[in-house]
Amino acid sequence: MRLPVWGQTDAAGAGASQLLLGVDYYPDQTPEALWEEDSRMMSDAGFTNVRIAEFAWGLMEPAEGKFEFAWLRRAVQTLHKHNIAVILGTPSAAPPPWLSLKYPEIVEVNAEGQRLHSGGRRFTCPTNKVYRRFSLAIASEMARAFAESPGVIGWQIDNEFTLSSSPRCYCNFCQAGFQEWLRAKYGSLDKLNQAWGTVFWSQTYTDFGQIPVPLPSGGDPNPGLALDYDRYQSYANASFLEEQLAMLRQKCPRHFVTTNNVGPPVDYIDLRELYKNLDFVAFDNYPGFFEMLVHEQMKSSSISAGTISTATAMGHDFARCVKGGKPFMIMEEQSGKAGQKTFSPQPEKGQVRLWTYQAIAHGAMGVNYFRWDTATFGAEEYWHGVLNHDRSKSPAYDEIKQTVKELKGLGPKVLNSGYPAEAALIFDYDCGWALQIQPGHHGLSYMPQVTAWYGAITASHSGIDVIQPGADLAAYKIVFAPVAYVLSEAQAARIRNFVQGGGVFVTSFRLGVKTESSQIVRTPLPGLLRDVMGVSVEDYVPIYSVKQGVKFSPPFAGSDGECGLWADILQPSGAEVVGSYTAGEHAGKAAVSVNRFGKGKAVYVGADLDAASLARVLRTLTASAGVQPAIDVPAGVEMTVRKAGDKEWIFLLNNTSVVQTVTIPRAFTDLLTKDAHSGTIELSGYGVRVLA
Ligand code: GAL
Repeated sequence: MRLPVWGQTDAAGAGASQLLLGVDYYPDQTPEALWEEDSRMMSDAGFTNVRIAEFAWGLMEPAEGKFEFAWLRRAVQTLHKHNIAVILGTPSAAPPPWLSLKYPEIVEVNAEGQRLHSGGRRFTCPTNKVYRRFSLAIASEMARAFAESPGVIGWQIDNEFTLSSSPRCYCNFCQAGFQEWLRAKYGSLDKLNQAWGTVFWSQTYTDFGQIPVPLPSGGDPNPGLALDYDRYQSYANASFLEEQLAMLRQKCPRHFVTTNNVGPPVDYIDLRELYKNLDFVAFDNYPGFFEMLVHEQMKSSSISAGTISTATAMGHDFARCVKGGKPFMIMEEQSGKAGQKTFSPQPEKGQVRLWTYQAIAHGAMGVNYFRWDTATFGAEEYWHGVLNHDRSKSPAYDEIKQTVKELKGLGPKVLNSGYPAEAALIFDYDCGWALQIQPGHHGLSYMPQVTAWYGAITASHSGIDVIQPGADLAAYKIVFAPVAYVLSEAQAARIRNFVQGGGVFVTSFRLGVKTESSQIVRTPLPGLLRDVMGVSVEDYVPIYSVKQGVKFSPPFAGSDGECGLWADILQPSGAEVVGSYTAGEHAGKAAVSVNRFGKGKAVYVGADLDAASLARVLRTLTASAGVQPAIDVPAGVEMTVRKAGDKEWIFLLNNTSVVQTVTIPRAFTDLLTKDAHSGTIELSGYGVRVLA
């Protein structure tokens, strides 16, 4: 049996600390003369650990088969002397020039069929055996060198599998890997041809070796092939990781192993598959950088604070649920201005602390800040860290030090507690990928829909699990599944049982359109769930210049809604109509319906509603399902609960820069200030309270 994370930390002799409150550090980029001072300063700031070496392949293997770990050993020793534990990164995300030049076939081919160039990072093919062999070799040598090193507590495999300018590879090796994967999946070509409908455009395959990858070929690819290719690429990355994991389990049985990723809104790899056998989930969190990207994309200067905090909250809820609710870690937390060519503003006073607590509030057990010192060279010179370029303390230094001290005060019991949720939002990679292949409307994509629904469920982002389609629904009172475009029979059966047993299921337009093979069902939509929903889809209508609206009736009555991108025109067959279209030939037809089925309710939101209408509908449903927040909070304040046994901790987070007042239902103590409060409690701009 494997030790829990804390036990492994202790067993590795990392010192008294049982917490992961550290920084990402680059001794490989720092003169050795500064390591001692760095370690002392980290210790002084209260940090417990670092993550190092994940891009240092070139220094560890300067020439093929020639390994040099003496420098890294000295770095680990110096850190350990100051009681700073070490998470080692395996360096496969950045192969050195000698490798990519001698073996150019390791470099990936993009969706246009062009081979990328080496020189950046994450430019490699996940299938290629040479790249895998070299990646495993360097990781194995590291494991051998550091398995027994005092202070080393765990591993990060690779770095951010999901993040690349070209997230999927289309090379010959991937094609061969895909064919092999298909052979295992389908067993016979008959089955595959049937599943994809390859008779269309004369694509019937008579040999697995004929099957292409979805590169440009004079027409769109077969949707079944394209969806399977997305699944294959996800599998290829996960199996690449598994090779290193199996080796680490064998060579370093006392160390924990994880990997880091930016989660939603990046969705190229099924993270549940990637983290399946890892000890815990680690995520990277850059809210300010995300805000900058949104600015660039929307060419707008008025992004509400809510847009960013909602997306981050959902990312955390997703991270927690990747391994069924187990506490996760933030491996990289933004600590300053962030960006490469352009960069975000310096986080305002209180924001770095707020971001840290937001992760903790949603189920994190540890945080590493990115990065210790700010590089003076390389592509990320402007990615600001805890120290400035001149090694002075950054504007957020004191705040980070204070936060680390506070989190130590809360201790492992709070940080390792659970997160109760009565509502769940289903996040299904198949739906996202299939919709990307055929969005139906150029503006329609899965992630923005899921995020909009997440934000609409509660104003306070509290008590929502973001679950995989196969998860057990019985624990929830209400389950949301926007744009459930691909629906398997097993998934439909789970939803049917949930509603039958008394659950409330809320879904949207494009429900159940596709089978798992990405064929369209041969029954009226919503296919397998028609009886549960009590409606048929009479027509589905992408919205362009002819506008559409929705008039609501009780319990959702209020101002009329706008229908943005899509309208499923519903024909009730038992369901009650609670919203109708207002314009054109579909005026008066059903847009939103509620059906009683078994002991529960099934709600179909056929229109792509504007944010205010969607919030009114989803919040009304959430409340009537009996989901009540522990504390009602004003707009801009987030509230979550963590729980262990009968102990509960309530987190209040002010995502705005102005003072907010919250009415509290009973007396509480703020664990951060030790002050007692009753009646109301104030939150300063970006302020945080942890109430018990
Ligand atoms: C992360 C990545 C780090 C560093 C950081 C800042 O996405 O894991 O290596 O690049 O962003 O850019």
